[in-house]
Amino acid sequence: MVRHYLVTGGCGFLGSRLVSALLAAGHGVTVLDILAREKASAVPADVRLLAGDVAQPEIVARAMDGVDGCFHLAAVASVEQCNRRWAETHRINQGGCVNVLDAARLAGRERPIPVVLASSAAVYGASGAIPLDEAAPAWPVSPYGADKLGGELHARVSASTFGGRVTALRIFNAFGPGQVPDSPYSGVISIFIDRAMKGEDLVIFGDGAQIRDFVFVDDVVRGFRRAMGVLESSSEPRAAIYNVCGGMGVEIGHLARTVIDLCQSPSRVVHAPARTGDIRLSVGNPAAAHAELGFVPSSRLEDGLAATIAWA
Ligand code: UD1
Repeated sequence: MVRHYLVTGGCGFLGSRLVSALLAAGHGVTVLDILAREKASAVPADVRLLAGDVAQPEIVARAMDGVDGCFHLAAVASVEQCNRRWAETHRINQGGCVNVLDAARLAGRERPIPVVLASSAAVYGASGAIPLDEAAPAWPVSPYGADKLGGELHARVSASTFGGRVTALRIFNAFGPGQVPDSPYSGVISIFIDRAMKGEDLVIFGDGAQIRDFVFVDDVVRGFRRAMGVLESSSEPRAAIYNVCGGMGVEIGHLARTVIDLCQSPSRVVHAPARTGDIRLSVGNPAAAHAELGFVPSSRLEDGLAATIAWA
């Protein structure tokens, strides 16, 4: 069935890929993004594009008008920026999420419009469980993680108090074409590929034995769409949370060597002091998303890396 979806943050790394997939499936799309003016030329012409901040309830309400479902991805996604601009990013990351849930409530005819939220593995913080499943204690250690957890709590309120249908996806380390390397807070894969292609040193923070769970952008997009499909077929209020991850731990040292090999690069691996507060082990358990959303990450790390290198 053809629908019209709102994608907040639709000009971003994950959002733009989601928009392309929705259009390819024949759906209509509205994008609300603070960067919309700057990035307008990169947005497909058939998208209804609104420039604005999700922290402004009026523009969120305008964007929600007439849509059948909402994917909420707009946020200040840099943990470091959120540390520096705590109160301001709280207004955007948690306040923006409440604005979206509230607008979905007010715009729905009989009940709120279904919403899929981009949450993050950052909600687990220093939880320490391996692998992390959704029942592990959520103990964020950053303003970013706390606000993502706050969004999940408001999703529960949407269901319990307003009859909403909301799913929050805890995204692990997403990577793939479209992720830019030019900020010190970009994902490690985009930084390593950029450096390997330029023949520059790959800098590992710490000993390189820290482990991450990487998930390819197209798998993340599939997770979003499956989550929406489940909400659309549900007649009951619902607030669910799922990990979106590959379920496999990769050492950063191994990643660096793999990138150098795939790029056939003369780059060397060097070490620098570990980042303050860097989490040692982060591996998710995708079993619940598999069982309840039918989500199976289909991309092998090497294939995802090859696709990202080809794009870079
Ligand atoms: C990631 C998310 C962050 C989220 C967190 C939740 C990204 C970009 N960030 O942070 O939003 O809050 O998971 O758990 O996906 N590293 C190097 N050299 C580099 C860059 C990074 O060694 O040049 C190391 C880091 O120290 C870290 C690992 O690589 O150990 C991954 O770093 P990064 O891609 O920045 O992601 P996270 O820190 O896991």
